[in-house]
Amino acid sequence: MYDFKPATPLAAGELYRELIAAADALTADEPDAVANMANVAALLWEFLPDLNWAGFYRVAPAKRGGVEELVLGPFVGRPACIRIPFGKGVCGAAAQSRATQLVADVHAFPGHIACDAASQSELVVPVLRDGAVVAVIDLDSPSPARFTAEDAAGVEALAALLSARI
Ligand code: SME
Repeated sequence: MYDFKPATPLAAGELYRELIAAADALTADEPDAVANMANVAALLWEFLPDLNWAGFYRVAPAKRGGVEELVLGPFVGRPACIRIPFGKGVCGAAAQSRATQLVADVHAFPGHIACDAASQSELVVPVLRDGAVVAVIDLDSPSPARFTAEDAAGVEALAALLSARI
């Protein structure tokens, strides 16, 4: 049994240090990308309060002549949209720009894809390998403006750790 859980309420910096240490321990010796994404989705859910969705979209193998797209990966939350073209929604914007998207109000984000009507704010961080995006980490919250710059920095550090492990 694994018991990776924050022991007491922690400040954001400490919370992400513990989350990343747990992710490191769980993924270091495991070559299977799906297993690693599944455990990290579960860790995000365990560690971060006030979420309604936490998980991955992976870059799908490009169809000939088609727009690149993301495909749903391991997650915790309600069933979600399966495919998202690059440039569409918050996830597609993160994949296309290779930059973190911190969205305080998803209803004000042009093209936001509402998978779960409860979502009010969202943080999407690209996972890069050799400069190319291989996946995005997507966090949704039912509270407006749930995510801070500290969350963005913490999830970016997690994405860097996972770069060669998913
Ligand atoms: N809201 C996302 C879609 C994915 S779900 O939130 C799980 C978007 O606009 O890209």
